[in-house]
Amino acid sequence: MDSTYKRHLITAALPYANGAVHIGHLAGVYIPADVYSRYLRMRGRDVRFICGSDEHGVPITIKARQQNCTPQEIVDKYHLIIKDSFERLGISFDIYSRTSSQIHHKTASDFFRKLYEEGKFIEKESEQYYDEEAKHFLADRYITGTCPKCFAENAYGDQCEKCGSTLSPTELINPKSTLSGNTPVMKKTSHWYLPLDQYEPWLKEWILEGHKEWKVNVYGQCKSWIDGGLQPRAVSRDLDWGVPVPVKGAEGKVLYVWFDAPIGYISNTIELMPNDWELWWKNEETKLVHFIGKDNIVFHCIVFPAMLKAHGDGYILPENVPANEFLNLEGNKISTSRNWAVWLHEYLDEFPGQEDVLRYVLCANAPETKDNDFTWKDFQTRNNSELVGIFGNFVNRAVVLTHKYFEGEVPAPVKNESLDEETLAQIPQIKKNIEDSLENYRFRDALKEAMNLARLGNKYLTETEPWKVIKTDIERVASILNVSLQICANLAIAFEPFMPHTTKKLRYILNMKSSQWEEFGLESILHPGHKINEARLLFDKIEDAAIEFQIAKLEATKEMNQESSQTEASATASSEKLTVKQELAPLKDECTYDEFMKMDIRTATVLEAERVPKTDKLLKLTIDTGLDTRTIVSGIAEYYSPEEMVGKQICILANLAPRKIKGIESNGMILMAKEENGKMRIITPEERLGNGSCIS
Ligand code: 2FM
Ligand code: ZN
Repeated sequence: MDSTYKRHLITAALPYANGAVHIGHLAGVYIPADVYSRYLRMRGRDVRFICGSDEHGVPITIKARQQNCTPQEIVDKYHLIIKDSFERLGISFDIYSRTSSQIHHKTASDFFRKLYEEGKFIEKESEQYYDEEAKHFLADRYITGTCPKCFAENAYGDQCEKCGSTLSPTELINPKSTLSGNTPVMKKTSHWYLPLDQYEPWLKEWILEGHKEWKVNVYGQCKSWIDGGLQPRAVSRDLDWGVPVPVKGAEGKVLYVWFDAPIGYISNTIELMPNDWELWWKNEETKLVHFIGKDNIVFHCIVFPAMLKAHGDGYILPENVPANEFLNLEGNKISTSRNWAVWLHEYLDEFPGQEDVLRYVLCANAPETKDNDFTWKDFQTRNNSELVGIFGNFVNRAVVLTHKYFEGEVPAPVKNESLDEETLAQIPQIKKNIEDSLENYRFRDALKEAMNLARLGNKYLTETEPWKVIKTDIERVASILNVSLQICANLAIAFEPFMPHTTKKLRYILNMKSSQWEEFGLESILHPGHKINEARLLFDKIEDAAIEFQIAKLEATKEMNQESSQTEASATASSEKLTVKQELAPLKDECTYDEFMKMDIRTATVLEAERVPKTDKLLKLTIDTGLDTRTIVSGIAEYYSPEEMVGKQICILANLAPRKIKGIESNGMILMAKEENGKMRIITPEERLGNGSCIS
């Protein structure tokens, strides 16, 4: 237990208030953060768990235009939905506020002003697209056009949703303003930039030297960014929604959402503790931990720390940033715009009283080290086999038998056997394993250990068979049920951080006042003679019909998406705006089937990526092939940045003979396709597959 800290400040990424929360958010951020906070509170630590809605940014203004309402109306609606659904799931924030609050506007303005007055920003002029009719500079998302990479219509200025490429607005073919439909013009504008390049040596020392213990995915992304060379980052935008830039002559400009949002952690702490907040942000005895998803790593590990450092008022830095990877749904990427998601508020309505089942499944299957998949079948199996079949079944048997043979009183252990001692002796080790895992942000392992305690109880009852022994030896049954009830009481403690609704029920059944972590591992939490309540089922079986309903809902979404993409495709085909004539490479010489079969082509995922020093074209990639972790040097640096590659699933020729490139041994080759414009694109499976899947 890390007792060097007096306080634990835990933040969970502020969700954008332009949509509801889905299972990807929960598995990636909110469930691990809640388990961690609850655990630390149980250990008697002084904890503040901070969150709130992120209510600025362009997507919110776009949604407002689409729905013909104001941005404020959009964020008001989603803020309430999100806040309410978190509460119902039992996420134990100490505060859930919002960045449209007055406190936040003041805190963010003051923060910017201090940096501005101390000359910490650089001011730069640049040219940006402008809509002359709407008299509006156009944020990337306000410009659509043809994707220069896959030629899909309606790609955004920052990204093509069809092929996933990151774009800049000037790359779009035939750009159009979404405000007026007109072709935008280039116009000069000036913005403030945080010169991240100046913080590079410090970031190198702080992260690359000082935080080697961070998760591999987090450290790897930071290293890629830093090694790739940091650039000044604009911290203001031409937009009419956000925190106004508090500087004369900056009319029509607001703080960039990624500048103000992390300051939201500070504002929300101020709102929670107006008098004490500095103790939590400016005292070395506070441990700050940010829970986020992998797409937020650069902002929490590089940009926000650089902002805090620039501010220089004694702000502490995060001690850890345990970012998770992404959760997919039934094999496909979760997508808000395509409605490919399980929405928390809908789940809570459709599975009343089963909040903890979702908490359990998402924690058991959390994408801690790689992207993972949620399937409704797995959800059902985990509930029916693990929660009902093991945990619930064990508790129910112990409680029912205690009522049947001892009128609901904990019997004294009058006739012990060695199995009893051996069984109880395993609990302190399980407790230690849970503690080690939780303190090192391995929530899946911790939950597995808690479940092992239920397994232990189940096995013990099955082996001792009190329902048979009762016929001949009631004293032995007294001992068996005493041991079983002690395991039940330990379960009520072990599961408390993970499944608070269930442990509340369990405590009621066992008539336990509270779950004290210090009692975990004790052999006698419930004393002989203690009266317990009647049995109630902890979990209900989930029937096939409920799962079929959910799968049918997703099928309907899939069909709707297909219909709309067919409509889009036929619109593109019939338009004559763009005809691409591709010069194709001539067919190569014939190869035999056997020659082809010699090639071992497989899926793999990029874990780390960095530029090979002194080259323009080479990236050194560390990849997970399912069989091993290996290095491939690939000439893709012209087409992909290291950070774009991290987390991508790729196809590789896995049995290519190793060769040295710039002194680095490269083990395999990445499969790529050349576009007619000469650009190379990686080949990636349509759906994320297990690493090492053979391609033939
Ligand atoms: O990615 C997101 O959902 C962002 N709204 C997270 C912001 S976290 C913090 F910086 F506020
Ligand atoms: Zn595209």
